[in-house]
Amino acid sequence: MTISLDASLSNLFCEQLGLCGVKAGETVAVLSEGELNKEYRELFLQTIEELNATAVNVNLPSDVQNLEQRLRNMGRTTLADHPEEMPKLYAADLVIDLTLLLFSDEQRKIQDAGARVLMVVEPTEILQRLFSTKDLRDRVEAAESRLRMARQLRFTNQAGTDVTYQLGNYEMLAEYGYTDIPGRWDSWPGGLIATSPNDGAVEGRVVMDQGDIIYPFMETVETSVEFIVERGRVTAINGDKQAQTLWDFMCSFEDPLAYEISHIGWGLNENAVWSTDVPGIGLDGRTYYGGVLFSTGPNTELGGTNNTACHLDLPMRNCTLYLDSEMIIDMGDVLPNDMRARQTAPLNQPEYK
Ligand SMILES: [Fe+2]
Repeated sequence: MTISLDASLSNLFCEQLGLCGVKAGETVAVLSEGELNKEYRELFLQTIEELNATAVNVNLPSDVQNLEQRLRNMGRTTLADHPEEMPKLYAADLVIDLTLLLFSDEQRKIQDAGARVLMVVEPTEILQRLFSTKDLRDRVEAAESRLRMARQLRFTNQAGTDVTYQLGNYEMLAEYGYTDIPGRWDSWPGGLIATSPNDGAVEGRVVMDQGDIIYPFMETVETSVEFIVERGRVTAINGDKQAQTLWDFMCSFEDPLAYEISHIGWGLNENAVWSTDVPGIGLDGRTYYGGVLFSTGPNTELGGTNNTACHLDLPMRNCTLYLDSEMIIDMGDVLPNDMRARQTAPLNQPEYK
C-alpha cells in the first residue's frame, strides 16, 4: 500500500531506520493501538518494506485517543491485556513503539528477548527539529561514561536546591534518539542522560524555581515548590497551590513507592526548547540542553524494583551539578568539552511561548 505523506517526513523515517541499523532481512514490528498514531504506523510499515526488511503490524484493539492518561499512570499498557501478541515482539529485531511502553513489564520483557525498542510518540515537528545526529550520540555517551564512574551527584540552584544522590548500583538511561544495539531502548527524539540513585540514598531539598516544568501536568512553576527528600523519599512538598496539587497527586496513588526518588540526569539536545506549549508528551523539556531532570517514582527502567505508576518528571533550568567533586553544569552551562554542543540554543526556534 502506498500512502501520500510529506516526502520529507518519509525521508526522515527512512533516515531514522537507517540510524537504527535496519538491514534487509531483519524483522521490524510496529506496535500501535487503535487509531492512535495511525499515520506513523502506516509510514513505518511502508518504509520498512522499502528497506527489504520484514514489517510486522501489531495493532492492538483500543479506544485510546491520546497518551495523557498513560503518562499519569506509567507502565500500565494496553499490551498487558494482549499477551498473545508478545511472541511477535520477542521475535523482532526492532520494535517501533507507538504506544508508550516505558516503565512497563512488557517493555522489559521485549528488551530481555533481545529486541531493540524505539519509542515514537511525539508530533512530526518535534521528530524533525530534535532529530538525532552522531554528534548527539557521542556527547550523550560521553555523559554516560562520566555518570557511570560517579559515586555521588549533587545539584543546586539559586532558589535553594541542595540535594545529594549516592550512585553506583543502577543502570544508565542514555537517550540519544535511536538504537542499533540489541536489547537497547531509546526514544525518538532523545538527548539526555540519567541514572537512578542507590536505594534510600538521596538527601536534601529540591526547590523548583519559577518557570521550571512539571510533567505530566504540562505546567510551569508559578511560585517556588520545595521537595524535602530524606532517605530517598519525598517527605514533604512545600509551597503554594501547585505544591499541594503535587502532594495530592502522589497521595492519590495510595502507594508508598510513589514518594521515592526516580531518575536523575540532564539534557543535552541543543535543539530542544523550554516551553510547555509544545504539543506532545514533553521531550523538549526533558532533553533541554543543560537542564537538570529531577524525577520521582519508578526505577524499573534502570534495573530497580519500584514499579509505582506515579511518575513525575521535573525539568529545572539554571542548576549547577557536580559529579563527585567535579562541576559538570554551571548554572545551566554544560562544561566538559566532550558533552558541549557546538551551538547552545535551538537553530530553528519554533514559535512557542
Ligand atoms: Fe521520567
